[in-house]
Amino acid sequence: MTEQINHAKLTQKLEEAERANAELEKSVNDRWYPTFHIAAKAGWINDPNGLSFYQGRYHTFFQHHPYGSTWGPMHWGHVSSEDLVHWKREPIALAPTLEADRDGVFSGSAVTGDDGRLYAYYTGHRWTNGINEDEGSDQVQCLATSEDGVHFEKQGVVVEGPQELPNFRDPKVFRVRETWYMVFGATSTENRGQVWMYTSTDMFEWTFDRILFEDPNPEVFMLECPDFFELNGKWVLTYCPMTPTPAGYDHRNSHNAGYVVGDWAPGNDFRQLTDYRQTDRGHNFYAPQTFEAPNGRRLGYGWMGSFSIPLAPQLTDSWSGQLTVPLEFSLTEDLKLAHLPIKELEQLRGSEKDLGAFTLDINNDMVVLDESAAYDLELTINLAESTTERVGLQVGLTEDGAHTYVGYDRLAGTLFIDRRLAGNGDRGYRATPYVAGEKLKLRVLVDRGSVEVFADDGVESLSSFTFANAGPRALVLSSESGTLTVDSLKVWEMGSIWS
Ligand code: FRU
Repeated sequence: MTEQINHAKLTQKLEEAERANAELEKSVNDRWYPTFHIAAKAGWINDPNGLSFYQGRYHTFFQHHPYGSTWGPMHWGHVSSEDLVHWKREPIALAPTLEADRDGVFSGSAVTGDDGRLYAYYTGHRWTNGINEDEGSDQVQCLATSEDGVHFEKQGVVVEGPQELPNFRDPKVFRVRETWYMVFGATSTENRGQVWMYTSTDMFEWTFDRILFEDPNPEVFMLECPDFFELNGKWVLTYCPMTPTPAGYDHRNSHNAGYVVGDWAPGNDFRQLTDYRQTDRGHNFYAPQTFEAPNGRRLGYGWMGSFSIPLAPQLTDSWSGQLTVPLEFSLTEDLKLAHLPIKELEQLRGSEKDLGAFTLDINNDMVVLDESAAYDLELTINLAESTTERVGLQVGLTEDGAHTYVGYDRLAGTLFIDRRLAGNGDRGYRATPYVAGEKLKLRVLVDRGSVEVFADDGVESLSSFTFANAGPRALVLSSESGTLTVDSLKVWEMGSIWS
């Protein structure tokens, strides 16, 4: 499909979107609106898109519906930062204006081209019947370029893709030496979830290279938002399989993200070395995307949100969805993908409470914070000297007793987030197997509507929404049927990311 590009239409559609979004902002309820996580000032967001470092700034785009707090015709929202800590809101970057992206500017990525422009590749989405998915959709890969990282010019479709594929989307572009590579998710004609690879030398003409990967699970019909990058000489393929049956700790959410690790070299097949492993086992971690930061670090985010029931409490708040904190990814010796909040995040730490070392009596509750809705906590427990059955943190504890219970279960050998008493929203319980040694080190980030838990140097993590009740929110440390010996406990109030 070659179509005439009407550049003025993009300007006009973006202005319309900005006006509607500013109107929506007036009705935002901030009871769970994040302090130190990226979210739209109003409206819905999902996947992180176009992560890049361009002209001295970090650019984070995201799937955005500026007109309402539910998923709708997709735009690209945009924020930028000099230091990954303090963020500036940028104008909405992309809106549907072409026939090819008539029903949505879907997910994609951005890279600096050989000519110094920023190249944003995204999926142009059209419902075949013009209204909904009933008769399927048409998905093509499109390009938009920018000379300042803020204003884009659409260049149209660059990859038509095979017409017979029901799903074909989410281009992730990277370069190895002189060649550009594009991977995206696809549903094969046999209804299997696959990752396809194309190559290019000029960033405009793309040629089919190979089917890089097929999910061995025949239940999986699509792999959304694949990412493919090198760490320690191995290649990590992350993707979001749709929609395997929940089993044990895995696939518990309607949407889950995971990865495999293998060997790959340009012109070759991907040789898988590990089984699939879920990247995060909380309720809300999806569609992660990474990019290579200037110093070679592999950074990225996941989307904290949900396409299904658990998002309900935000629907009336005129905004919905946030990104995780910026994460740094690494690969362990045994080929596990670890991720931790970037070091720079510590710059947002304000007043510190250092409780030092102490022992909590059997069946005790200790108030760590009387009132705080956004904090960063580091806790080391001496398990060898503790007899408690679980190490528990009551997060967002309100006077009525509602809270989210986060911690470590010694009997089961798991880290967990339990929202049965959370006050609002879905109750679900999530856990990940983890047997700590003598010491248990936990990092817990609590924001107004979320909690992220990291252990084992980032190999284990749980990221979930948590919707506290109204009133002051306390943090309490609990021992259960035993004592709890703390080596150190430090907690910092977190400042805002908005400059
Ligand atoms: C994943 C996803 C992508 C798609 C986008 C649409 O969350 O479904 O596959 O490009 O969201 O918003």
